[in-house]
Amino acid sequence: MILWWCILFLSLLGTDNKCVRGQFDGNGFISIDCGLPENGSYIDDHTKLSYISDTQFIDTGLNHNISKEYTPSVSKQYLTVRSFNSGTRNCYSLKSLVPGSKYLIRATFLYGNYDGLNQFSMFDLYIGVNFWKTVNISNAVTPVIAEVITVALADYVQVCLVNTGGGTPFISSLDLRPLKDTLYLLANSTQSLALVKRLNAGPTDTTIIRHF
Ligand SMILES: *[C@@H]1O[C@H](CO)[C@@H](O)[C@H](O)[C@H]1NC(C)=O
Ligand SMILES: *[C@@H]1O[C@H](CO)[C@@H](O)[C@H](O)[C@H]1NC(C)=O
Ligand SMILES: *[C@@H]1O[C@H](CO)[C@@H](O)[C@H](O)[C@H]1NC(C)=O
Ligand SMILES: *[C@@H]1O[C@H](CO)[C@@H](O)[C@H](O)[C@H]1NC(C)=O
Repeated sequence: MILWWCILFLSLLGTDNKCVRGQFDGNGFISIDCGLPENGSYIDDHTKLSYISDTQFIDTGLNHNISKEYTPSVSKQYLTVRSFNSGTRNCYSLKSLVPGSKYLIRATFLYGNYDGLNQFSMFDLYIGVNFWKTVNISNAVTPVIAEVITVALADYVQVCLVNTGGGTPFISSLDLRPLKDTLYLLANSTQSLALVKRLNAGPTDTTIIRHF
C-alpha cells in the first residue's frame, strides 16, 4: 500500500527518488541488515522477509563482520554491524513514509566482538530529536532489541545513534512496519510508545513472536 502511494506520488511529481531503489518490500516493510555490503540483500530463512543493505539509508559509519567465534550461534541479521567511530550523532533516514501514519520501528544490537576489542559500549537511541532508549551492551552474544511505535510527522523518520561517551555505537538491524492508525491509540503525533517487554500470554511456541 505504502509502496503504491509512493509510486503514485513520485509519478505525479515526475521525479526519480528512493522508492526506485526498492527500500520497501511487497508488504510495505523495510527490513535492513546493517553492515551488509552495498546493494547486498537476502531472504531470511526464518521470516521469509527480504533484508537489504543499509547503504541507501545512511552515509556514515563502517561495516564489520562479527567475530567468527560467534557466527554459528546467531541469526543472519547479527552477522554484520555498522559502527560509528566519528561524530556524536549518526542517523538513519527511513524515507518515503506517509506523514501522519503509524509505524513500528525495531532496532537490534549484537556486539559479537566485531572490533576485536572485547569492549562493551553504551549509547543512546533517538527518533529524530526525541530520546528513545539507552542501549547498554553487557555481553557479546545477547542481542539488545529496541522497539518503538511512532507516528511519522513528515515523510521520513530518522533513527539516530548518539555517542554519550560510553564507547562506539553500532547497530545490527533496523526494521520498519506500517501499522493501522487504529492500533495503539496511545501513540499519536505528540507521543511514541517504547517497548519495555513483550510477553507471550498464549502459545508456548515462541517463534510466533518474531513474525510481525
Ligand atoms: C549499487 O547499485 C547502484 C544502483 O544500481 C549502483 O549505481 C552502484 O554502483 C551499486 N554499487 C555497488 C558497490 O555495486
Ligand atoms: C565479511 O566477511 C565476508 C566473507 O565472509 C567478506 O567478503 C567481507 O569482506 C567481510 N567484511 C568486512 C567488512 O570485513
Ligand atoms: C549495564 O548493564 C550491566 C549488566 O547488566 C549492568 O551491570 C550495568 O549497571 C548497566 N549500566 C547501566 C548504566 O544501566
Ligand atoms: C496524544 O495522547 C496523549 C495521551 O493520551 C494526549 O495527552 C495528547 O493530547 C495526544 N496528542 C494528540 C495530538 O492527540
